[in-house]
Amino acid sequence: MDVKRIRLDFPMLQGSAGNKSITYLDNACQSLRPKQVIDAINSYYLKSSACSGRSMHQLAAEVTRGVDQARGTIAKCLNAIKKEEIVFTRNTTEGINLVAHSLGLRSGDTVLISDKEHNSNLIPWQMLAKKNGIRVKIVPSKPDNTFDLDAYRTMFDKRVRLVSFGMTSNLDGVSIPAADVIKIAHQAGALVMLDAAQTAPHKAINVKALDVDFLAFSGHKMLGPSGIGVLYGKYSLLERIDPFLVGGDTVSSSTYETCEFLPPPEKFEAGLQDYAGIIGLGAAVKYLQDVGFDAIQKQELLINEAISAEIKDIPGLRLIGPADPHLRSGIVSFYIDGIDSHRIALMLDQMAAVMVRSGQHCVHSWFHAHQIKGTVRASSYFYTTLEDAALFTSSLKKIIKVL
Ligand SMILES: Cc1ncc(COP(=O)(O)O)c(C=O)c1O
Repeated sequence: MDVKRIRLDFPMLQGSAGNKSITYLDNACQSLRPKQVIDAINSYYLKSSACSGRSMHQLAAEVTRGVDQARGTIAKCLNAIKKEEIVFTRNTTEGINLVAHSLGLRSGDTVLISDKEHNSNLIPWQMLAKKNGIRVKIVPSKPDNTFDLDAYRTMFDKRVRLVSFGMTSNLDGVSIPAADVIKIAHQAGALVMLDAAQTAPHKAINVKALDVDFLAFSGHKMLGPSGIGVLYGKYSLLERIDPFLVGGDTVSSSTYETCEFLPPPEKFEAGLQDYAGIIGLGAAVKYLQDVGFDAIQKQELLINEAISAEIKDIPGLRLIGPADPHLRSGIVSFYIDGIDSHRIALMLDQMAAVMVRSGQHCVHSWFHAHQIKGTVRASSYFYTTLEDAALFTSSLKKIIKVL
């Protein structure tokens, strides 16, 4: 992969951030956007700024075509059986909430989650526990934070209706063995929801081969616009479950007393949609496919290996997750005994314009359970260079000396 050439596509890496040279290592939070995506968003506002579906005029037809095309691109990328299995949401959080509120879970029904879920895959289930009396059971990870299939197997009883796991953790970059997880759940009669917020940007996902029931991700971590996301669902399930948000565009007709819902995905896409976001996300997915997920992973591993090798002997540095960078995708998350992670992040930014994330990364529950205050998280993407990695590690070492 020609990283130098690829970087030319990203205005933020070409000085658009006030002509400053930046080292952006906060990709697990949000990625940068290439001009192809920005152009697609602009093109909607400049050339076809109308709504899809509702009106008969040519602008509306063009938007409908753009939305259809984006849905098709995403469906193909995920190897979905049909594009109607792709529901546009605002983000991963909305996708998980949609499933949580639509499945009709009742008192005593059990949902399995892991011990290191993002709040977006924890709080919706906690709320259902309060409101509907569902039970939430936590599958413990192994001591190195990798998935414990044996522990997972023992968690099933007849009441487990759903398994909902982060496919790749934003805490440490560790992925779960998704195919095994799904097989075991299905054998026990449970459905599976995967939070793919940290997977979809980095790895090819084949929903058909995985046989996953629901899968959610966000555009903003994979070159797409903010405020647009996707929920994939098997069509037969989408047909069966009730919509979560209802109103305009979800029905074919209504009387004062009742209504007729449209088939999926329309029945889930309530109100006027973020057309620029959808078209921009389609452009983002196309860009990622052109680069290729194998090349993306290769570059991320190169960076993770370089950073991991440089920091491994820093006294007092505790890495979260397994030592092997192959198991941590593009994420290096650590804390240093006695040093506040926010201070490190602030100094990296001020000294060298190296941008990382610090704190508890919306996985507060894991930090409370482990009595750790927070970590510094450096997360790369395919446009990250070895020079970026070197600047990060050398700046970190300087900072540790002065703190
Ligand atoms: C693993 C994981 N799940 C869910 C989310 C929530 O994503 P969003 O805020 O786009 O809904 C994130 C965001 O950081 C994440 O990393």
